[in-house]
Amino acid sequence: MQTIHTIAALRQALAGRAATSFVPTMGNLHEGHLALVREAARQGEPVVASIFVNRLQFAPHEDFDRYPRTLARDCELLAGAGCDIVFAPDEREFYPQPQTYAVRPDPALADILEGEFRPGFFGGVCTVVLKLFACVQPAVAVFGKKDYQQWKVVGRMVEQFALPIRIVGGETVRAEDGLALSSRNGYLTLDERSGCRAR
Ligand code: PAF
Repeated sequence: MQTIHTIAALRQALAGRAATSFVPTMGNLHEGHLALVREAARQGEPVVASIFVNRLQFAPHEDFDRYPRTLARDCELLAGAGCDIVFAPDEREFYPQPQTYAVRPDPALADILEGEFRPGFFGGVCTVVLKLFACVQPAVAVFGKKDYQQWKVVGRMVEQFALPIRIVGGETVRAEDGLALSSRNGYLTLDERSGCRAR
């Protein structure tokens, strides 16, 4: 497995390769992400996964600075799950200037549910995903059904911009207590965790 940090090196590594399957992530990986990578491998190799904590989808009061960055461990896990290339740009590489061009997703889909509580969140997600798609140029991209709204918003973006990418939904992986695996579950106290299960 190759770990690549620049767009130029990624393009070089992908030149002449067959179409790729792509799994975008923000790292701090768990079994749910690895299931997406395995799903991507079933769609056709090679598999590219990205690890990039995307500032554009965090509100100022959210956890951008403390979001766990665990690149070495993530790369080991990805290699074990059958990933071929990890694209892990740093912020200066990916956003060398402020990203002033942005995707504005359909408010009917993006401003409800999670979007109602996190204004601008899906715009930030779509903007980074569109840019990642431009870098990786995958034939297939896999998004977790756990983030159901995100999966739908990205699917609509792909339709609206006529991107030649097939969006596949990966099944949710759950912990033994039934809670869906999520990178932010580590923030929960035991009480909060059982509160989530009760809902
Ligand atoms: O689901 C996530 O981890 C992120 O929203 C994504 C799709 C990687 C974009 O930053």
